[in-house]
Amino acid sequence: MVARKPKVIVTRKLPDPVETRMRELFDTELNIADQPFTRAQLEDAVGRADALVPTITDRIDATLLEKAGPKLKLIANFGVGVDHIDVPAAVAKGIAVTNTPGVLTEDTADLTMALMMAVGRRIVEGANVAQEGGYTGWAPTWMMGHRITGKRLGIIGMGRIGQAVARRARAFGLQIHYHNRKPVSPRIAEELEATYWESLDQMLARMDLISVHSPHTPATYHLLSARRLKLLQQHAILVNTARGEIIDETALAELLRAGKIAGAGLDVFEHEPAINPKLLGLPNAVLLPHLGSATIEGRIDMGEKVIINIRTWMDGHKPPDRVIPAMM
Ligand code: DGY
Repeated sequence: MVARKPKVIVTRKLPDPVETRMRELFDTELNIADQPFTRAQLEDAVGRADALVPTITDRIDATLLEKAGPKLKLIANFGVGVDHIDVPAAVAKGIAVTNTPGVLTEDTADLTMALMMAVGRRIVEGANVAQEGGYTGWAPTWMMGHRITGKRLGIIGMGRIGQAVARRARAFGLQIHYHNRKPVSPRIAEELEATYWESLDQMLARMDLISVHSPHTPATYHLLSARRLKLLQQHAILVNTARGEIIDETALAELLRAGKIAGAGLDVFEHEPAINPKLLGLPNAVLLPHLGSATIEGRIDMGEKVIINIRTWMDGHKPPDRVIPAMM
């Protein structure tokens, strides 16, 4: 427990109400200019802070953590994914790591549906034609996409976001299938009328749409490998709003270019912010710049979660959203 206000260093600009509240509660250093921290700035921050508030754009690895000062006791991540943080290394040094689960579930699920629709119904292509003055008249066989309703959706990773996608997808008339480390509870399976596939390969080969919602861990890196991607049907659509590293992007780009699958909607990339040049310019790929949680409401809620985690820790309790190495 710290009697003085803890030194909290925030690495990126956060929504104004979050920054205002943080300033009231903590001895807060903000990054108003929003320039991502350099390695040297991160080293300085971990050396001086009681609590660091990083985001996905900061690499908090074991080498950086060696520079942590004796005061650093909390890494309160602004975001749910913690694959940019070496959680075991932090915990081994007595530094707790927290994240912001739950509050971005619905926004990410909304964006997932938007991508499914955008790819299936060629929304971006169509909008571009209209904007560029290329619409010369309706025609029976022009700009045909793929029907969404009635199709089979395979969800990879049936956690909070996967389930939120399933709920929306049912309203669109999709049949829900999923692959997960273990089946969801019978109550949830019944509510979603969801079919569990123990074999990812078998599920991939039978779905019309696939949506990725696993965390990125060593076990899920390139889970959708070149071999697995080849199992997809030619009319299949793949959506990823989780992490780019889960898909072999180069293999995916080749399948898209060759028309071996119908399309892909990607909000995340393997080497963000860089986008694999092979994905650029493909008419059947809708690419978004990591917008899953990008709503005003969601980002404020994420900030509030960060504040709750820091305050709970300040008060000498275990923060509610602790990430433990066993979760990774
Ligand atoms: C997350 O929270 O992990 C998102 O991907 C970024 O906000």
